[in-house]
Amino acid sequence: MFSFFNRLFPFARHITSSRSVSTYCEMADPSSFSNHLNVVIRSTKLDWKVDMEGKKLGGSVEHEVEGLTDAKEVILDARDLNVERVLWEGLETPFKYDKISASLGDRLSISIPLVSKGDRGVLSIVYSTSSSARALQFLSPAQTTDNKGPFLFSQCQAIHARSIVPCQDTPAVKAKYSSKVTVPAGLTCLMSAISTGKDTSGQGEWTFSFHQDIPVPSYLIAIVVGVLERREIGPRSAVWAEGSVVDTAAKEFMETEEFLKAAEEICGEYVWKRYDLVVLPKTFPYGGMENPCLTFVTPTIIAGDGSLVSVVAHEIAHSWTGNLVTTANWDHFWLNEGFTVYLERKINEKVYGRPRRYFDAKEGFESLGETLKFVLPEHSKLRQHLGGIDPDDAFSSIPYEKGSSLLLYLEQEVLSEGESGSFLRDHVRLFSSKGLDTETWLTSMKERFPRMKEHEEIVNEWLYGEGMPPRTPKFIDDSMVVECNKVIDNVLSSSPSSQLFSSLTTTQKIFVLSSLCAKAPFDHAKMEVLASAPFGISSSINCEILSPWIKLGLTSQWEPSIPVALQFAKEYGRLKYCKKTYG
Ligand code: BES
Ligand code: ZN
Repeated sequence: MFSFFNRLFPFARHITSSRSVSTYCEMADPSSFSNHLNVVIRSTKLDWKVDMEGKKLGGSVEHEVEGLTDAKEVILDARDLNVERVLWEGLETPFKYDKISASLGDRLSISIPLVSKGDRGVLSIVYSTSSSARALQFLSPAQTTDNKGPFLFSQCQAIHARSIVPCQDTPAVKAKYSSKVTVPAGLTCLMSAISTGKDTSGQGEWTFSFHQDIPVPSYLIAIVVGVLERREIGPRSAVWAEGSVVDTAAKEFMETEEFLKAAEEICGEYVWKRYDLVVLPKTFPYGGMENPCLTFVTPTIIAGDGSLVSVVAHEIAHSWTGNLVTTANWDHFWLNEGFTVYLERKINEKVYGRPRRYFDAKEGFESLGETLKFVLPEHSKLRQHLGGIDPDDAFSSIPYEKGSSLLLYLEQEVLSEGESGSFLRDHVRLFSSKGLDTETWLTSMKERFPRMKEHEEIVNEWLYGEGMPPRTPKFIDDSMVVECNKVIDNVLSSSPSSQLFSSLTTTQKIFVLSSLCAKAPFDHAKMEVLASAPFGISSSINCEILSPWIKLGLTSQWEPSIPVALQFAKEYGRLKYCKKTYG
């Protein structure tokens, strides 16, 4: 492990402190029961058999555990697991399984012989998951796009890994992992790791092996099983999807290598070797999920014109901010998402030009006002105090938009041009070794940038204050917004021009539709005009257009929207749309 970081970040040791570089963070995590301050998992071996009919994973896990203090117990997070046997160094050892809380799940306490700092041992657990494991969605063939076979995907962020493997389910702990997964013959298994083999010789069963050599937090363990095809889209990238989707997807995501190169120019080498994408069925709850080596995406970002691929830029950005520099716990989630949105927009600037960066930044900042209407004041702070609540219950776009706006503000007000050029690269170099928290980051910022002193009070308000941020960053290029505003005024006038609307890029049309939504209700005559052929809004296949269009119709009590809304609701499980359109 040390040699890995040494190779990656040759100066990290010198810069962080005189202590050796470690992937362990000394901070307690309110979302985890684990005693990771006493013993820490260094590597994990999974051996799973996937039961597609019973909707379960069964098998074992082997954790290599290291003592950090004297300890006689290993406490792991779990949820609805059926634990059969526990062994320490090959010998059966007593354990206790307690259901603790609805929000955080269960606790697995394992007795071990006394270990001291530096001692290592192997903990083996034989177990199976419940058919209602929170991290897993099992789909019948009929629930997939092509109806060719059953499907399984996982979503472990934030604290669902514990429902598929007993583990230290905190991002403060990072471990390498390897796995062997047996699935019914004909199905492909993919994980958030590098493939190390596929054995198709078994009777009715295929076995896949993986290895993730870079220590990752438990929330980045991920699995997909299904009838999948693969298309190469770049020197280190392929797209996986069901047969009827794979070619369109490969076309849609052809800019992937360009995004990767742009990100490398900003942050340094991409260390995860492969960057593959898998397109999941429509019920996948997120736009994208940054599972290492294998980003998961919703098919709703396949719009046919590449207009929604900034989700891919976002997930690529997480390869540095999130997957290398990781929040110490979910109280500091903004360090994952705020930095990632900031980086995503810098990638977009390189690929699509400056106007796009400031267009997205302005739209994001302005969306904060709307978001604040339905977020608890306490959850509008960047630095959170989640206590025992499920981090999913505090989820909103605040850490994304407030966080990235803070970084844009700092770029403009605190950093010199040279400093902002190396800001993200330094961030990755300084903080990849262990979980990062807001206070450690702030202290480092003050040490590195003397001008932080002048902005101390304001920055504290950004981090610890509720509601809108204390300052508005400068959106120095507003050319794209100006064009949109012209169209919005025109649509609201008595003679909307479809020609003017058509002159916009898809990105701009999405902005226009969302802005119109905020001005609803509309009279039905206006809805008819907007639905008609020259505007063509109602026939769009772009979910980012359809979603505000449906909302506009429903708010305007325009009946033709009802069947479209029902169909949309039946089809897509992406949380963003469930919340936005029907919330
Ligand atoms: N890591 C997140 C998704 C996530 C966050 C899952 C918290 C579970 C808990 C992912 O990177 C993300 O932010 N996805 C966004 C897309 C992005 C372009 C803003 C989404 O799904 O909308
Ligand atoms: Zn993200």
